[in-house]
Amino acid sequence: MKQTSITLNNGCRMPQFGLGVFLITGDEATRKVCLDAIRLGYRHIDTAHAYGNERGVGQAVSKSGLPREELWITSKLWPSEYGEGKTMAGIDKMLSRLDTDYIDLLLLHQQFGDYLGAWRDMERAVAAGKVRSIGLSNFESSRLEEVLEAAQTKPAVLQVECHPYYQQKALKQHIAPYGTVIESWYPLGHGDAGLLNEPLFGRLAQKYGKTNAQIILRWHIQEGNIVFPKTMNPKHLAENIDIFDFALTSEEMAEIGKLDKNQRYFTLNLEEQEAHLSQFIPAD
Ligand SMILES: NC(=O)c1ccc[n+]([C@@H]2O[C@H](COP(=O)([O-])OP(=O)(O)OC[C@H]3O[C@@H](n4cnc5c(N)ncnc54)[C@H](OP(=O)(O)O)[C@@H]3O)[C@@H](O)[C@H]2O)c1
Repeated sequence: MKQTSITLNNGCRMPQFGLGVFLITGDEATRKVCLDAIRLGYRHIDTAHAYGNERGVGQAVSKSGLPREELWITSKLWPSEYGEGKTMAGIDKMLSRLDTDYIDLLLLHQQFGDYLGAWRDMERAVAAGKVRSIGLSNFESSRLEEVLEAAQTKPAVLQVECHPYYQQKALKQHIAPYGTVIESWYPLGHGDAGLLNEPLFGRLAQKYGKTNAQIILRWHIQEGNIVFPKTMNPKHLAENIDIFDFALTSEEMAEIGKLDKNQRYFTLNLEEQEAHLSQFIPAD
């Protein structure tokens, strides 16, 4: 089973598949699921300061016994940490929570606050060897243009909602000239039964001896998306990584392409997002 990787616009090779740990609460539970995942062959974990579980991720990395360079850690800064000078201090605290010398990929989690100041500090953190690659999450407004124009280092990735019902075709084309790659959040529609039970996925699952979720994850891989489904279920954990021994045909990829309904699960507009998110400040 050979997992695929993506070469980012700065030359770093990133495992295309990983584990997302959003909504996994507490260091112990996080450490356990990450260690189980690493034992199954996962080499990439997607966390965030706002998830409150970076320490558990760091503990799993230390306990895994693997050389640090064999694992890829992504984390994200919250707007309360944005600003030139302030962001560097936030990165130092993140390194300490993750108990690591460097972060493989660091993202701005949300498109609010002094994101341009934060980006300048992130570029300095790359120069200082604290961070390898930098990117954005949830920048889908004109603020994306602002960063793309101002950035000396163009974002390596853009992490956004992306799944067969919301395929992000236009955004993908828009960021391609910068070499920026889409990372899919809600890759399984956050577990939505409507998406998982699409008849097309059932038919393909039967053909390949796979589950519907595996067909969706395989579609992400062949679409060139970076993908990290979240699960705490041991059966799903093993199933989700078992997608590298088959390939969908170009006709099947095109059929899945037609399922795009421009349907998001997360529907707050920019003002609603700001009101909703500004209420939360993650603890150190
Ligand atoms: N940047 C952002 O703002 C942002 C936002 C959301 C998410 N994310 C990232 O994206 C990751 C994934 O997103 P997500 O967790 O919200 O959504 P998701 O991965 O699309 O869906 C997770 C749900 O799918 C279920 N599931 C997982 N594997 C399954 C399988 N093989 N068969 C059936 N059901 C399965 C899980 O339930 P069980 O636990 O029962 O398996 C869970 O309820 C997050 O963990 C996080 O790292 C980022």
